[in-house]
Amino acid sequence: MCWIFGYIGWENTQNKLINGLKNLEYRWYDSAWIFEISKDKNTYLAKAVWKVSNLANKVQENQNNYFAWIGHTRWATHGGVNENNCHPHFSSNERFFVVHNWIIENYIDLKNNLEKKWYNFYSETDSEVIAKLIEDNFEKDLLTTIKKITELLQWAYALAVIDKENPKTLIGAKVGSPLVVGIAKDGFYISSDPNTLRTICENFIPLQDNELVVLAENNYEIYSFDDKKQEKKLLEFENYDTNKWKWEYKHYMLKEIFEIPSVFENAIAWRINFQTKEITSNTLSELVKYDIKKIEIIASGTSYNAGLTASYWFEDLSNIPTSVYVSTEYKYKKKFIDDKTLYIFISQSGETADTLECLKIVNARWGLTFGIVNVVASSIAQLTKMWLYTHSWQEVWVASTKAFIGQLAVLLLISLKLGLKNGMDYGRYENIINHLAKLKQSLQESLNESVNIKIISEKYAKYENMFFLWRNYLFPIAGEWSLKLKEITYHHSEVYSAWELKHGPLSLIDKKFPSILINPQTFLYEKNISTLKEIQARNWKVIWVLTKWDKNENLYDDSIFISNQKWVLTPFLVATVLDLFAYYMADFLWREIDKPRNLAKSVTVE
Ligand code: AGP
Repeated sequence: MCWIFGYIGWENTQNKLINGLKNLEYRWYDSAWIFEISKDKNTYLAKAVWKVSNLANKVQENQNNYFAWIGHTRWATHGGVNENNCHPHFSSNERFFVVHNWIIENYIDLKNNLEKKWYNFYSETDSEVIAKLIEDNFEKDLLTTIKKITELLQWAYALAVIDKENPKTLIGAKVGSPLVVGIAKDGFYISSDPNTLRTICENFIPLQDNELVVLAENNYEIYSFDDKKQEKKLLEFENYDTNKWKWEYKHYMLKEIFEIPSVFENAIAWRINFQTKEITSNTLSELVKYDIKKIEIIASGTSYNAGLTASYWFEDLSNIPTSVYVSTEYKYKKKFIDDKTLYIFISQSGETADTLECLKIVNARWGLTFGIVNVVASSIAQLTKMWLYTHSWQEVWVASTKAFIGQLAVLLLISLKLGLKNGMDYGRYENIINHLAKLKQSLQESLNESVNIKIISEKYAKYENMFFLWRNYLFPIAGEWSLKLKEITYHHSEVYSAWELKHGPLSLIDKKFPSILINPQTFLYEKNISTLKEIQARNWKVIWVLTKWDKNENLYDDSIFISNQKWVLTPFLVATVLDLFAYYMADFLWREIDKPRNLAKSVTVE
């Protein structure tokens, strides 16, 4: 999960590149570098282990008229974290400089063949093979050669390459891993993430798989690997400044949690006519024309938890049997693709390699694919037959919060639309739509609980183990909270359906192992009170998430309140208060919340 940032143009500054790399810092990485070349072939290279700020301190501002720059943050896969393994990797004749994201799966064979031809390797990386292959296969010019070596590389990759003998061009290539071209007044950019170009470019073009871009002094050209020139539409960035308001909050994660009510509204407001109670999305009107008898949802991490929550909606409201799979498992399991099944792929980034690979397999077998994606024009949005954007704006930091709410909102709309088609009781449908109209307000009220949540979370921060217990709709929400807690506090937690404890995990419990039970006013309320008694009989600590004015409030060690809402809508509220709980706990523990250790925002390696 390395990330690429490059520039070719007239403004002679290193700051652009360093700032570009800083914009990629929301992903975990362990080293960074930049490489610069001038039109008269002067080169400059700086590498640093760890932070971009270390690199910035090392870089000398120099007066050479540099023209092309490439930079990279490395997330080590092949070989340890040291400057030798840091990119750019270069050919033996030190003519070709390569930056690479993702993994060359056949690199051992390629390396063995090259070693037989007396090429020496200085790093442990798979990426160095690419530089040596370019040298070994060089023919005519860099473009011709890269087209040729793409036939040898077993994917996947995004590349940016500079030829020292022809420093006026920078070439990028993509198979599987994201790569976008940015068009600005002062030149052209290449990046792994369009969001890094948002404030510096006018437009951008996402490359498709098996495409190359040649960036030159005054123009750019895009080709397919089989040498056909491609005409591309210029895309515009949404009018949204991610840095706006950050100063009000201690961390971006907190800022993103506080955006939840607006994100929710953004995902549904223009897709529902609250007067007529109609769901107006054209995409969903198209979707209901299909005869869907089964749903399979494929996603990872938080997006998987959104899918699990939605499976309850699809079965309860739409009357359609639904299975949910973690992408990594789905890829290798036996698949029964048929034309009566809807395959839903959920991804905030739209670039998660495991999910993307599954999508390609289902597409190849003509399955009806539907994407729920946040990042506009990302690969999953482009490759699914139909898709809806969650419109959660840019989610910058690793722990997904507001994007989860956007995903839930869109999934609920789909389940309601399919529900009506499948004979859902109209009174029930109308009632849910009426409550949806008030949900933004309820979300806001949940955030108003933040002071109380902060006090409780600080009290529980000393516990390194926790149980999260619930059943039915809120079971996946407990799973999502447990994931959040692991990511940002590094504490251990287990998720169980409340009554499942007695089948084994009860033995883990002692006074150092508190439980969070989620028990708003629902049909399971009384049953959960029995679970409370069971737990208290053993002197465990219990925090409850409750609906306001709960008559048994005094029974619990601590309580977090949510507004009274329809049962099917409680996942939105519980997720929001629990995100706050995890955040405050991590903050109390002085964790690096926005950049948790070892994690990347977008997981573009398998
Ligand atoms: C969530 O907090 C995580 N950072 C992670 O689990 C994430 O949801 C997962 O990697 C999937 O990402 P995607 O939604 O971009 O596909």
